[in-house]
Amino acid sequence: MKDSYLNFVNSPFGARLARSIGLPKPEVLRRYRADRPEFEGLVAIGAGRAPHLLDALAGVIARSGFTSVAHESALGWIPLAARHGLMTGRFEPADSGSQGRLVALLFDASGIEDSGELDSLFAFFHDTLRSLGKCGRIVVLGRPPQACATPRQWTAQRALEGLTRSLGKEARRGITANLMYVAQGAEDEAEATLRFFLSPRSAYVSGQVVQIAGVTASPQTTATESTTATAIDWAQPLAGKRAVVTGAARGIGAAIAAALAAEGAHVIGVDIPSASDALEATMRPLSGSALAFDIAAPETPAQIAAALDELGVDIVVHNAGITKDKTIARMTEAAWHSVIDINLAAQERLDDALLAAGTLRDGGRIVCVSSISGIAGNMGQTNYATSKAGVIGRVQSMAAPLGERRITINAVAPGFIETQMTAKIPLAIREAGRRMNSLSQGGQPVDVAQTIAWLAHPGCAGVTGQVVRVCGQSLIGA
Ligand SMILES: NC(=O)c1ccc[n+]([C@@H]2O[C@H](COP(=O)([O-])OP(=O)(O)OC[C@H]3O[C@@H](n4cnc5c(N)ncnc54)[C@H](O)[C@@H]3O)[C@@H](O)[C@H]2O)c1
Repeated sequence: MKDSYLNFVNSPFGARLARSIGLPKPEVLRRYRADRPEFEGLVAIGAGRAPHLLDALAGVIARSGFTSVAHESALGWIPLAARHGLMTGRFEPADSGSQGRLVALLFDASGIEDSGELDSLFAFFHDTLRSLGKCGRIVVLGRPPQACATPRQWTAQRALEGLTRSLGKEARRGITANLMYVAQGAEDEAEATLRFFLSPRSAYVSGQVVQIAGVTASPQTTATESTTATAIDWAQPLAGKRAVVTGAARGIGAAIAAALAAEGAHVIGVDIPSASDALEATMRPLSGSALAFDIAAPETPAQIAAALDELGVDIVVHNAGITKDKTIARMTEAAWHSVIDINLAAQERLDDALLAAGTLRDGGRIVCVSSISGIAGNMGQTNYATSKAGVIGRVQSMAAPLGERRITINAVAPGFIETQMTAKIPLAIREAGRRMNSLSQGGQPVDVAQTIAWLAHPGCAGVTGQVVRVCGQSLIGA
């Protein structure tokens, strides 16, 4: 689906008109393109008292290719950066000439132990925000509040959520703001997530909070499971992996298949038999495989497990989903049942089969597609919202048991994404859905796909049991 308004206000005439009559002007988001550098430009670094993560950050900045400047709150950055071979300087507070020269603002709040120390956040963002360019990135790093040693530290760390989400709403211009809570001992697990939040791949992900837990390598950890930054091939992180994607014939599922294949995975797409031509057409250019199965059929899980044969699978993406909207009083039992069955119960049955047969390998990744309707509820979607909230419950309840096999399970909750599913929504509701978020536009299937590729990454072993919204920081369920 095309967003005609966004295209219009970004044309020369439309931009002039929007300016003169004060129309909102959503930014054309900068998305990842293989033919452009993913990381380049100047990042400003800030820090609170006694920051713990600067050394890990310097490693990421050095490996990714950014340059950096230290705000006065983080002068400890300068010797650290030098140790990592980084050229660095001091940030000069915004003047009229500095607007737009920064591509990202990174603040290490991990050492903040008391609300009195939150002033350093004000100093940094007050000085730097005006210098952040269009589609810039803001990432705040803290410690998981629930693991803090004192109530005051917990309080101060929890406060970071309010700051980050407000920055996302204030910054506009295609800028995103996200928060990472990095557990003590998980510093080396943070790189894949930090790269994702700094990359154009996270163009439509804003206002999110992700927890990074430590990963203890067990004796069974294999070389291909290694998550250390130096062992990861950042260009083709999924090389040698096999991924199953349900509902892969079109829309978000087709984009997921393409994103995983671009990162090196062999993708096995699943879709209903009536969509098999479209499925073949999607999988052929990806050199993937196609399995025409209805995931709701009772025999399908065993058939998929058998089709995956002894090669097994490393990544399972539960994307297939349907809507059958009606208020509950007018809804048929069949509409209720089929939505819960396809969107939720079929995921459970497929995972059970793949886990029981050992088809899903240890160290694997499960990513489920939920929805912001599952978080906020939605008029006319009792069946859909029930199924999508159930998906969140699945992720939360399965993380610990699957952790015993070093398998992670996470969900993405898309907001308004431009697909055939949302094209069916009546125009007025569709327009409201598009604009009611901090980026004032709908997302693209690729935005969900890139988020799933990040969660499937070998460097994401410390991210499990979480729900990441891909919604441009939608006001719904915020
Ligand atoms: N588009 C959005 O704005 C949006 C928002 C939130 C969540 N989602 C979720 O994202 C996922 C993909 O949505 P989309 O917009 O790409 O939808 P879509 O209708 O364009 O694609 C869904 C795909 O799933 C397949 N499918 C449906 N039932 C199946 C079954 N029983 N067995 C196998 N395959 C089946 C369909 O054939 C289709 O190819 C869904 O789970 C949806 O609920 C979408």
